[in-house]
Amino acid sequence: MDKTPPIPKTVLISESQIRERILELGKQISKDYENRELVLICVLRGASLFFADLAREISLPLRFEFLQTSSYHNSTEPSKNIQFIRAGSEYVKNRDVLIVEDIIDTGQTLKFLVEHLETLNPNTIKICTLLDKPSRRQVSVHIDYLGFEIPNVFVVGYGLDYGQFYRNLPYIAVLESI
Ligand code: IMP
Ligand code: MG
Repeated sequence: MDKTPPIPKTVLISESQIRERILELGKQISKDYENRELVLICVLRGASLFFADLAREISLPLRFEFLQTSSYHNSTEPSKNIQFIRAGSEYVKNRDVLIVEDIIDTGQTLKFLVEHLETLNPNTIKICTLLDKPSRRQVSVHIDYLGFEIPNVFVVGYGLDYGQFYRNLPYIAVLESI
């Protein structure tokens, strides 16, 4: 991409809708794990804003872990090969872990992440995703905590990118022409 792309105007999920849903998710997670500690796993880079806001609404002793995979490569088609760029996982063994994702699309990334984390013998693994695009699913994924289900559109903002841009938008917008 040579030039900075224009800012998309079609807001799908507003800043206040995101905020409200995160308050609810934080309460639910705090209740479900009451009197326990939790390892919150941020899947970089897309989940970064969601992770930071959600963590502040969870009233439990939390540890943070960060993982990063490569799969999208500036395109809207997922690549077949998912690899770890960062597979840090020192806190997982015998602990309760909650994966925090931006969006579940085909489900391939989540499947890869869960299979990796399972080899590290956590006590439990659960999944929290801000967005779900079920119409594009290739492998089944059990979502424990969901922000919003969305139709089959390419979205940007609030952590999600196209060609690394738009992550800083405070809302989720539809990218119309790519
Ligand atoms: P999956 O492996 O197909 O489930 O893809 C998951 C990853 O693809 C997400 O973590 C995002 O990084 C990326 N992705 C999927 N759909 C979108 C979208 O609509 N906008 C931006 N990124 C997306
Ligand atoms: Mg992602």
